[in-house]
Amino acid sequence: MRNLSELLDVHQDLERIFFCHQQRLLHFEFDQALEILDEYERALLKHIFDENTHLLPVYIERGDIKKGGAAQMFFDEHEKLINHIALFKQEVVNLKTEENPDEKLIWLFEREGFFKKLATHHDIRETNFLYPELDRITSDEEKLELLSKVTCKFIEINPNKNR
Ligand SMILES: [Fe+2]
Ligand SMILES: [Fe+2]
Repeated sequence: MRNLSELLDVHQDLERIFFCHQQRLLHFEFDQALEILDEYERALLKHIFDENTHLLPVYIERGDIKKGGAAQMFFDEHEKLINHIALFKQEVVNLKTEENPDEKLIWLFEREGFFKKLATHHDIRETNFLYPELDRITSDEEKLELLSKVTCKFIEINPNKNR
């Protein structure tokens, strides 16, 4: 039987795409870095849309919400994550025309490091609270129905692109 917690694998796909973006930055390949960051943003937005629209409403309606698992925190973290990506995209655009990009690139890596910590923290909270609770409160049929509405994989869309 399938479980909703299999959606946590999406986080690994996202991490992998972000790694590829940073790899391009590391080599001063800013066009490709931006292209992969766009891909990351699309995947992140879709995953967040799936959670906000399909999963969190079920959690709010029927979940036994424990301390540390408040739904509003998930919504707030989603917004923070999205805002960071918008900033990073602008910074990569700026890097393209920067004559001495070293300093700005180091700054960007540091900000992205902070973002990665936020994303890890978010992943831990979803792993500990959201997904186990969703698995517990949904029937087998409901799990299948919800899984049919969301995206469970992002990397297979472009398996070899830029990687
Ligand atoms: Fe998630
Ligand atoms: Fe999330």
